[in-house]
Amino acid sequence: MKIGAPKSHIEGEHRVALVPETVTKLKKLGLDCVIQAGAGMAAGFPDDAYTAAGATTADSASDLSNQCEAIVLTHPPTDSEFTWLRSGQMLFCVLQPLVNHELVKRLADHGVIAIAMDMMPRISRAQKMDVLSSMSTVAGYKAVLLAASELDKMFPMMMTAAGTITPAKVLILGAGVAGLQAIATARRLGAVVEAFDVRPAVKEQVESLGARFVEVAASNEDAEDAGGYAKEMSEEYKQKQAQLIADHSAESDIIISTALIPGRKAPILITNETLGRMRPGSVVVDLAAEGGGNCESTKLGERIVHDGVVILGPQNIPASIPYHASQMYSRNIMAFLQDLTKEGQIQLDKSDECVTGTVITEGGEIVHARTRETMKLEPLAAAEGSPA
Ligand code: NAI
Repeated sequence: MKIGAPKSHIEGEHRVALVPETVTKLKKLGLDCVIQAGAGMAAGFPDDAYTAAGATTADSASDLSNQCEAIVLTHPPTDSEFTWLRSGQMLFCVLQPLVNHELVKRLADHGVIAIAMDMMPRISRAQKMDVLSSMSTVAGYKAVLLAASELDKMFPMMMTAAGTITPAKVLILGAGVAGLQAIATARRLGAVVEAFDVRPAVKEQVESLGARFVEVAASNEDAEDAGGYAKEMSEEYKQKQAQLIADHSAESDIIISTALIPGRKAPILITNETLGRMRPGSVVVDLAAEGGGNCESTKLGERIVHDGVVILGPQNIPASIPYHASQMYSRNIMAFLQDLTKEGQIQLDKSDECVTGTVITEGGEIVHARTRETMKLEPLAAAEGSPA
């Protein structure tokens, strides 16, 4: 069976879904890899590194597609990629199917077996296949570097001949994977770090990284759903939270916001009023920009200055560290393929929750239960049994 990694033509997408290291490992499973010429160049992986690892190269995406039963992409397929995607072909990619309904319909109509790596269940066994965690790790790290290069201060405390320099203060909103990585990176650079999250369960993790956990007083509200994700909170909680964040923001040099609720617009945590209380020269890096933003003034992909505060709304931030982002993404795909491959064939075993959790379209149907629910379609079994 052959797996193909085409070259991305999306502006700023420097990642590639297979790296040479994983080509070698996939070959041991009996899976041959085909790389479109130049696909890994922007991530630092030249064609000869792939061929040395045992891959073959294809001159064009359509040539690659004609040879391969499975395609791997780092992003949702674009219009131009639909021109060569074939019916019956497996497509491993990031899809956001709970919001990208038109795209899901199109993939079903096209006959593609679309496998959304971003829907991998958050269970211990699947940690090694979790592309969201991998990309959040890269994003959390890079966000701190972006903030540091914008800030008009240095991070660490310094005792100099010109006197003592006080450390920068960093506030992290949302202590999930990206937030925890941002805490660790800011601490390594010497900043004083505070963090806030609706899930009190993360307090221990925040403190173990050397940051202070900011808490909304006496909250008995359950902030997590069964999958460990944050859920929408009550109005009373939101008001207390808004006050607390505003007070701590006013004291911070940098805010890195990462607060997301899957399938919904990101909550606004930094209002324009809060921005007005921050010192000019302070920096907000809004990692939730692609989900609508945690800051009222965020503009996706832009750098805004509001009352002297710099607000960055980075887009596809993992692609700005393409070598490691590709390596991690590719290892996640490989780990999934290791579980799926039997005697050199990828088999989608429907008794495996990693398969039912990620396969979105198959045989011309939208087969993923949660996606059908968000698209207001009947559950599949009922739909099959219902009159036409
Ligand atoms: P995410 O990207 O969905 O959200 C980021 C953070 O924002 C979360 O910590 C969330 O609680 C927080 N947040 C949401 N609304 C907020 C608000 N209004 N104010 C402040 N913070 C808010 O989260 P991520 O990083 O993808 O992780 C989600 C969960 O999954 C976590 O419990 C994490 O530990 C767990 N997880 C489990 C894995 C596994 O077992 N395979 C792998 C990775 C994560």
